[in-house]
Amino acid sequence: MITLHAAEAPLWQAQVPLKVLWVRQGKLSPQGEALDIRLEGLLRRAWEGAGLKGESGESLLLATPEGHFLLVAADGYARQAGGRLAQLLGRYAFLEALVEPLEDGYALAEGLWLGAYRFLRYKGQPGERPLALHLLGVEEGVLERARKVAEGVYFARDLVNEPPNVLTPEALAEAALALRPLGVEVEVLDEEAIAALGMGAFLAVAQGSANPPRFIQLRYRPEGARGRLDLVGKGLTFDSGGYSLKPTEGMAAMKGDMAGAAAVLGAFKAAALLGLPVELWGYIAACENLISGRAYRVGDVLKTLSGKTVEVMNTDAEGRLTLADALAYAERQGAERILELSTLTGAAVVALGEEVAALFATEAAWGERVRQAAQRAGEKVWPMPLEAAYREKLKSPVADLKNVGDRSGGAITAALFLAEFVRVPLVHLDIAGPAFAKKAHALGPEGGTGFGVRTILEVAQDL
Ligand code: BES
Ligand code: MN
Ligand code: ZN
Repeated sequence: MITLHAAEAPLWQAQVPLKVLWVRQGKLSPQGEALDIRLEGLLRRAWEGAGLKGESGESLLLATPEGHFLLVAADGYARQAGGRLAQLLGRYAFLEALVEPLEDGYALAEGLWLGAYRFLRYKGQPGERPLALHLLGVEEGVLERARKVAEGVYFARDLVNEPPNVLTPEALAEAALALRPLGVEVEVLDEEAIAALGMGAFLAVAQGSANPPRFIQLRYRPEGARGRLDLVGKGLTFDSGGYSLKPTEGMAAMKGDMAGAAAVLGAFKAAALLGLPVELWGYIAACENLISGRAYRVGDVLKTLSGKTVEVMNTDAEGRLTLADALAYAERQGAERILELSTLTGAAVVALGEEVAALFATEAAWGERVRQAAQRAGEKVWPMPLEAAYREKLKSPVADLKNVGDRSGGAITAALFLAEFVRVPLVHLDIAGPAFAKKAHALGPEGGTGFGVRTILEVAQDL
């Protein structure tokens, strides 16, 4: 648990057990240099003597007559430097530290928050030590904003990290309902209501599980809002693959197949805390993809909400079926443009690796806005083509569409499938890679990353 506070006292005066100094391109800051003069060059000698070259992540803890110092290399991004520092401090026993500024104080604060995240709910160990960080040269309001954004990211990460026996579709709906006190309107539809609406594709995916599906609709409508953004998130609380069963190794990460939904919920939480002056509408089709005597089959033909029929050629291509109905529903609710996030395909991970999300846009201008927003947020996305020539891969002999193409271009055919269900501009972010970290990284531990929350907030802020 960390807390961040704005600090003003000059570096050398502050009474704290630890002072964090940044080393950039092998050099201390002007304030650090001034302090080192008082220490007769001890800091510089120690840094150079340790053979540190100033590559990001390197650090050195020193006890001096002027107190303890942590020298940390910070070449690169302030957000990453903050994230690494938070994780580094987690290994020491200090309860308080002073941190000197980096150019981008907001990104530093955000990084500190994100790096400090831990998921300890199921660990039988004592809780975390509190750590108070005093940031020089950063205003209280900036720290406040970073904390609210981080709360949204934490919310998303927690949801992804929750095991699938706990985070059922009903539990995901409960998590959404918990946002009501913040001023978010939340409506939850049960199986009967979902059937009455005619969401035949969503229901088919859900029908193999004893845990019933939930359709979650959210609205955040502040007074005097200057625009509206509609968000759709894939909400598979577990994806076994169904009868097109996944191998065990591939299945372990599938508790995170609701990361798109988690990003949407996290963004709602942060937007409400921040009081963003824009309307957000959110839609989550939450269910599990399991096997049973009631499960859907390969060969089934489904009737979607849009009226189009789909022949199921692979029950593991379930996300696009649930999303087809959620997207059509969003459009019915008057969406003018949609941003949709989903852990949709392994093919997107093959194409772009674990850190970069694939961005598909049915309208170039909308795609470019989301791309730039992601860049500002420090979340990596890369545009991919909605290649019309591949549409024929989705032709079915018996229905309007089938739910898979062939082996090649899997992320693209999945995106093309989604695009069949909306007319308004759609951006689809395939976050199968970056939603879940296999190991600790600059901005957090292994597990759910909350990818997408910050991009959504940047898009919303820019409306
Ligand atoms: N949830 C998976 C995609 C996924 C894979 C997410 C790896 C995160 C990491 C999705 O439902 C799926 O199974 N997609 C299939 C599609 C295929 C059957 C056309 C895939 O990618 O293998
Ligand atoms: Mn699947
Ligand atoms: Zn899936």
